[in-house]
Amino acid sequence: MVASANLNVMMKTARRAGRALLKDFGEVENLQVSTKGPGDFVTRADRNAEYLIKEALMEARPTYGFVGEEGTEIEGTDPTRRWIVDPLDGTTNYLHGLPHWAVSIALEHKGQIVIGVIYDPMKDELFFAEKGEGAWMNEKRLRVSGRTRMIESVFATGLPFAGRTDLPETLQDLARILPTCAGVRRWGTASLDLAYVAAGRYDGFWERRLHAWDMAAGLIIVREAGGMVESINPANDILESGEVICAAEPIFEKFSKVIRSKSS
Ligand code: IPD
Repeated sequence: MVASANLNVMMKTARRAGRALLKDFGEVENLQVSTKGPGDFVTRADRNAEYLIKEALMEARPTYGFVGEEGTEIEGTDPTRRWIVDPLDGTTNYLHGLPHWAVSIALEHKGQIVIGVIYDPMKDELFFAEKGEGAWMNEKRLRVSGRTRMIESVFATGLPFAGRTDLPETLQDLARILPTCAGVRRWGTASLDLAYVAAGRYDGFWERRLHAWDMAAGLIIVREAGGMVESINPANDILESGEVICAAEPIFEKFSKVIRSKSS
């Protein structure tokens, strides 16, 4: 595939931020950790990466808007285009020296995500997709899994940390899904959960209470890899509601029926 100028800028920026984050990985005592709420951490590394990404993207496209997890919000003079950025998705993993975290950058145009880039510096895996151009990981074209049987399928989700009020819903989800499938994983980085569905590593993923920056890039990568992506309540907008369910088409109906059945 021939990458567009915007995709090139995003890939280059994600790699730069990833390299900066790698330098601080494992340096907990220098990370100036603070919390945004119980169990919700932010470090100097998150803030530095957001600054670096904001500077690079705004220099390349000064008219676009920008929203980042660590609080950067810029209203661009072009109201139709906006970067949506999680500079360090999986902050808790990063802080604990767990090698599973990523940089996530999406471009929204007229309310639709048109390009997504997710970079995992620990594995040097760069996942990306541009509308209509397929999904890729480094040089490899991605395709969602072809499994059709729930009992052979592995799904991923997120679990609420201290201070969140959605534990009952999560436990109900797990009680319904666990007896039907080969396993459920919780690795703590929603953007990579989505990228792994696109890569066929997971058969599906669902999570409630996410933020737009956790999901935006991953949504287009899953779609471009041939997956189905919806809000858990199909009437809701995914980015606004923070709920997502996605899977390869052959398993989507069965999987979504299990997750959705409790609320009907
Ligand atoms: C978190 C991760 C995690 C999800 C949490 C998010 P952050 O993002 O994506 O997988 O379960 O809800 O907050 O805070 O590490 O960027």
